[in-house]
Amino acid sequence: MTENMTTPAADQNATTGTEFLRDFAEMSSFGATDRGGVHREAATDADHQTRAWFAAWLERNGFEVTRDEVGNQFGLVELVPGAPYLLVGSHLDSQPMAGRFDGAYGVLAAAHAARDARTRAERGEIHPLFNLAVVNWFNEEGSRFTPSMMGSSVYTGKMAAADSLSTVDRAGISVADALAQGEVGRLAEAPAAAAYAEIHIEQGRTLENGGHTIGLVDRTWAASKYRIVVHGEQGHTGSTIMADRKDALFGAALLIVAARELTEVFDEGLLHSSVAELSLEPNSPVTLAREVVMNLDLRSPDESVLARANEILVEKIAEIEARARVTIERHLTHQWGLSPYQPEGVDLARAAAAELGLSHTEIMTVAGHDSTNMKDIVPTVMLFIPSIEGISHNELENSSDADSVAGVAMLSEVVARLLRGDLAG
Ligand code: GLV
Ligand code: MN
Ligand code: MN
Repeated sequence: MTENMTTPAADQNATTGTEFLRDFAEMSSFGATDRGGVHREAATDADHQTRAWFAAWLERNGFEVTRDEVGNQFGLVELVPGAPYLLVGSHLDSQPMAGRFDGAYGVLAAAHAARDARTRAERGEIHPLFNLAVVNWFNEEGSRFTPSMMGSSVYTGKMAAADSLSTVDRAGISVADALAQGEVGRLAEAPAAAAYAEIHIEQGRTLENGGHTIGLVDRTWAASKYRIVVHGEQGHTGSTIMADRKDALFGAALLIVAARELTEVFDEGLLHSSVAELSLEPNSPVTLAREVVMNLDLRSPDESVLARANEILVEKIAEIEARARVTIERHLTHQWGLSPYQPEGVDLARAAAAELGLSHTEIMTVAGHDSTNMKDIVPTVMLFIPSIEGISHNELENSSDADSVAGVAMLSEVVARLLRGDLAG
């Protein structure tokens, strides 16, 4: 589609595919990596540059840019003075050396969809019940500052703002200090939400395998994330006799393998588990590790599987403590259940996809999203576009131009429907 192309009346002034793709390419240049991804952890220079670029885009397009005290960034459009807001967004931060779609696609799609909805409202094509806000949630990824989904957790009252601001990265830099390095926009109270919509790349193969363009997310997988600390004792790697060793790294290695083998206890696809982050002390070549700190991430589409996996893990930990002569602490750091998105929101999205002629299917999300938080406080619609080969948290993450553009049209239609109160009545 080109910008000058004649379009049906309802689509006139709608964002064009060319314009969206051009903006997306420009946005993806911040923190760009050699193989087409982005390296843009929360509140790093690359994230600040992206946030500044995005604020400028919003201002240029007639949005008022504000931010709240925990770094959530908003682009506001007042349509109904005094009314609460329909929020639409996702996150601009990324994992290290990750894909350019995860989060950022949804933020830019939200901005284009909100601009289209405003145009439709100004022309009297829809009669809005709410104001409109595009949102870039701070630190969804949780790689630099843990836990993930931090900005939306504070917004939804699941985390105290003070706890977020005092969280430190590995170098001891706090969220408050990292944010202060580059904030743009007026500091203001976050807008009150009436409803929320988000679009995201799937991060799996379901849509691609089924030949669908749009996923209507109806539930989350359940997740339990742990911080594991393995305590051993330092000793000489050569001279300490094997029977005397209390090697924390050996204990950690056994636990990493046990976590992986845990998935084999259940039918395929019922449990995902991983250890992906690890640090050890003193991390010296001739000294046995006295302590290992690592994460452990368990996910399932069945809460009873997750509960059973936890029980087995407790037994395995006891065995490993005895075998490696270490002690192991396990702290739950983040969890969510197998919770549904409101069925009315899924119905609304299904009708929108049908009207646009987009092939669609109900789908669960394995990854957490800011919508995972938002759906607990307001009616929420969560959408997916296909991932090529399910590649995620990797520079090669991708979706086709056609699917990216179709997703923006889909989100625009969902925003229009939410704005006119289809979920409210
Ligand atoms: C997102 O934060 C996830 O852990 O899936
Ligand atoms: Mn994401
Ligand atoms: Mn991610």
